[in-house]
Amino acid sequence: MVYDSVYGNTQKIAEAVGGALAGETKVVRVNEVDPARLGQIDLLIVGSPTLGGRPSEPMQDFLVRIPGTAVKGLKFATFDTRYSGKFVRVFGFAAEKIGENLVSKGGVQSSPPEPFYVKGKKGPLKEGELERAANWARGLSR
Ligand SMILES: Cc1cc2nc3c(=O)[nH]c(=O)nc-3n(C[C@H](O)[C@H](O)[C@H](O)COP(=O)(O)O)c2cc1C
Repeated sequence: MVYDSVYGNTQKIAEAVGGALAGETKVVRVNEVDPARLGQIDLLIVGSPTLGGRPSEPMQDFLVRIPGTAVKGLKFATFDTRYSGKFVRVFGFAAEKIGENLVSKGGVQSSPPEPFYVKGKKGPLKEGELERAANWARGLSR
Protein backbone atom coordinates (compact mmCIF):
# COMPACT_ATOMS: atom_id res chain seq x y z
CA MET A 1 0.00 0.00 0.00
CA VAL A 2 1.15 3.45 -0.89
CA TYR A 3 -0.18 6.39 1.12
CA ASP A 4 0.51 10.00 1.85
CA SER A 5 -0.52 12.04 4.87
CA VAL A 6 0.06 15.63 5.97
CA TYR A 7 -1.84 15.76 9.30
CA GLY A 8 -1.81 12.05 10.14
CA ASN A 9 -5.40 11.06 9.37
CA THR A 10 -4.65 9.12 6.19
CA GLN A 11 -1.69 7.48 7.89
CA LYS A 12 -3.97 6.14 10.64
CA ILE A 13 -6.38 4.76 8.04
CA ALA A 14 -3.47 3.26 6.08
CA GLU A 15 -2.19 1.48 9.20
CA ALA A 16 -5.67 0.14 10.00
CA VAL A 17 -6.06 -1.12 6.43
CA GLY A 18 -2.56 -2.62 6.42
CA GLY A 19 -3.17 -4.37 9.73
CA ALA A 20 -6.38 -5.99 8.49
CA LEU A 21 -5.15 -7.23 5.12
CA ALA A 22 -4.47 -10.91 4.74
CA GLY A 23 -1.13 -12.08 3.38
CA GLU A 24 2.18 -10.27 3.13
CA THR A 25 1.52 -6.54 3.23
CA LYS A 26 3.73 -3.50 2.98
CA VAL A 27 2.54 -0.04 3.99
CA VAL A 28 4.83 2.59 2.51
CA ARG A 29 4.76 6.36 2.41
CA VAL A 30 4.60 7.74 -1.11
CA ASN A 31 8.02 9.40 -1.02
CA GLU A 32 9.65 6.03 -0.26
CA VAL A 33 8.24 4.14 -3.25
CA ASP A 34 9.90 3.44 -6.58
CA PRO A 35 7.01 3.95 -9.03
CA ALA A 36 8.64 1.69 -11.59
CA ARG A 37 8.47 -1.38 -9.33
CA LEU A 38 4.75 -1.57 -8.57
CA GLY A 39 4.10 -4.50 -10.86
CA GLN A 40 5.67 -6.99 -8.45
CA ILE A 41 2.62 -7.08 -6.15
CA ASP A 42 -0.83 -8.64 -6.51
CA LEU A 43 -2.94 -5.78 -5.14
CA LEU A 44 -1.97 -2.11 -5.04
CA ILE A 45 -3.81 0.08 -2.54
CA VAL A 46 -3.34 3.84 -2.78
CA GLY A 47 -4.56 6.31 -0.16
CA SER A 48 -4.24 10.10 0.03
CA PRO A 49 -5.70 13.09 1.80
CA THR A 50 -8.06 15.20 -0.31
CA LEU A 51 -6.55 18.69 -0.44
CA GLY A 52 -8.27 21.26 -2.61
CA GLY A 53 -10.28 18.47 -4.25
CA ARG A 54 -7.17 16.56 -5.27
CA PRO A 55 -4.56 14.15 -3.94
CA SER A 56 -1.62 15.71 -2.07
CA GLU A 57 1.26 17.09 -4.15
CA PRO A 58 3.62 14.16 -3.36
CA MET A 59 0.85 11.76 -4.42
CA GLN A 60 0.26 13.69 -7.65
CA ASP A 61 4.01 13.58 -8.38
CA PHE A 62 4.06 9.86 -7.71
CA LEU A 63 1.19 9.27 -10.15
CA VAL A 64 2.97 11.25 -12.84
CA ARG A 65 6.13 9.20 -12.35
CA ILE A 66 4.44 5.78 -12.65
CA PRO A 67 5.34 4.35 -16.03
CA GLY A 68 2.37 2.79 -17.87
CA THR A 69 4.11 -0.57 -17.91
CA ALA A 70 4.23 -0.66 -14.08
CA VAL A 71 0.44 -0.80 -13.55
CA LYS A 72 -0.89 -2.37 -16.74
CA GLY A 73 -3.18 -5.23 -15.65
CA LEU A 74 -2.43 -4.59 -11.96
CA LYS A 75 -5.39 -4.85 -9.58
CA PHE A 76 -5.78 -1.77 -7.41
CA ALA A 77 -8.07 -0.02 -4.90
CA THR A 78 -8.00 3.58 -3.72
CA PHE A 79 -9.15 5.46 -0.62
CA ASP A 80 -8.90 8.99 0.69
CA THR A 81 -9.69 11.06 3.73
CA ARG A 82 -11.95 14.09 3.31
CA TYR A 83 -14.44 16.47 4.91
CA SER A 84 -17.87 15.09 5.61
CA GLY A 85 -19.71 18.26 4.44
CA LYS A 86 -21.62 18.25 1.17
CA PHE A 87 -20.37 21.60 -0.15
CA VAL A 88 -16.96 20.28 -1.24
CA ARG A 89 -18.33 17.81 -3.77
CA VAL A 90 -17.89 20.06 -6.79
CA PHE A 91 -14.11 19.96 -6.45
CA GLY A 92 -13.91 16.18 -6.47
CA PHE A 93 -11.92 13.87 -4.23
CA ALA A 94 -8.50 12.23 -4.15
CA ALA A 95 -9.59 8.58 -4.31
CA GLU A 96 -11.59 9.06 -7.53
CA LYS A 97 -8.78 11.03 -9.18
CA ILE A 98 -6.13 8.48 -8.29
CA GLY A 99 -8.42 5.75 -9.62
CA GLU A 100 -8.95 7.54 -12.93
CA ASN A 101 -5.22 8.02 -13.32
CA LEU A 102 -4.42 4.35 -12.70
CA VAL A 103 -7.22 3.17 -15.00
CA SER A 104 -5.83 5.42 -17.74
CA LYS A 105 -2.54 3.53 -17.37
CA GLY A 106 -4.19 0.13 -17.68
CA GLY A 107 -4.72 -0.64 -13.99
CA VAL A 108 -7.75 -2.74 -13.00
CA GLN A 109 -9.92 -1.08 -10.32
CA SER A 110 -11.08 -3.94 -8.08
CA SER A 111 -13.46 -1.90 -5.89
CA PRO A 112 -15.00 1.60 -5.85
CA PRO A 113 -12.95 4.48 -4.39
CA GLU A 114 -13.53 4.53 -0.61
CA PRO A 115 -13.88 7.71 1.46
CA PHE A 116 -12.98 8.05 5.15
CA TYR A 117 -14.19 11.14 6.97
CA VAL A 118 -12.65 13.71 9.29
CA LYS A 119 -14.59 16.02 11.63
CA GLY A 120 -12.62 19.27 11.26
CA LYS A 121 -10.47 20.67 8.49
CA LYS A 122 -7.33 18.83 9.65
CA GLY A 123 -9.09 16.02 11.49
CA PRO A 124 -9.50 14.15 13.70
CA LEU A 125 -11.13 11.18 12.02
CA LYS A 126 -14.80 10.64 12.75
CA GLU A 127 -15.62 7.92 15.25
CA GLY A 128 -15.67 4.44 13.80
CA GLU A 129 -13.56 5.20 10.73
CA LEU A 130 -10.61 3.03 11.81
CA GLU A 131 -12.93 0.06 12.30
CA ARG A 132 -14.59 0.79 8.97
CA ALA A 133 -11.13 0.91 7.33
CA ALA A 134 -10.26 -2.51 8.73
CA ASN A 135 -13.57 -3.91 7.45
CA TRP A 136 -13.01 -2.36 4.05
CA ALA A 137 -9.57 -4.01 3.90
CA ARG A 138 -11.01 -7.43 4.77
CA GLY A 139 -13.45 -7.11 1.89
CA LEU A 140 -10.82 -6.36 -0.74
CA SER A 141 -10.19 -9.27 -3.05
CA ARG A 142 -6.60 -10.12 -3.77
C1 LIG B 1 -5.67 22.95 3.19
C2 LIG B 1 -6.70 21.87 3.24
C3 LIG B 1 -7.51 21.63 2.13
C4 LIG B 1 -8.49 20.64 2.17
N1 LIG B 1 -9.26 20.44 1.06
C5 LIG B 1 -10.24 19.49 1.11
C6 LIG B 1 -11.10 19.30 -0.01
O1 LIG B 1 -11.00 19.95 -1.06
N2 LIG B 1 -12.08 18.36 0.09
C7 LIG B 1 -12.23 17.60 1.22
O2 LIG B 1 -13.13 16.77 1.24
N3 LIG B 1 -11.42 17.75 2.30
C8 LIG B 1 -10.44 18.68 2.27
N4 LIG B 1 -9.62 18.85 3.35
C9 LIG B 1 -9.75 17.95 4.51
C10 LIG B 1 -8.64 16.90 4.44
O3 LIG B 1 -8.90 16.02 3.36
C11 LIG B 1 -8.55 16.07 5.73
O4 LIG B 1 -8.14 16.87 6.80
C12 LIG B 1 -7.60 14.90 5.58
O5 LIG B 1 -7.94 13.91 6.51
C13 LIG B 1 -6.14 15.26 5.73
O6 LIG B 1 -5.40 14.07 5.60
P1 LIG B 1 -4.03 13.86 6.39
O7 LIG B 1 -4.30 14.05 7.85
O8 LIG B 1 -3.64 12.46 6.09
O9 LIG B 1 -3.04 14.84 5.86
C14 LIG B 1 -8.65 19.85 3.35
C15 LIG B 1 -7.84 20.09 4.46
C16 LIG B 1 -6.87 21.08 4.43
C17 LIG B 1 -6.02 21.32 5.64
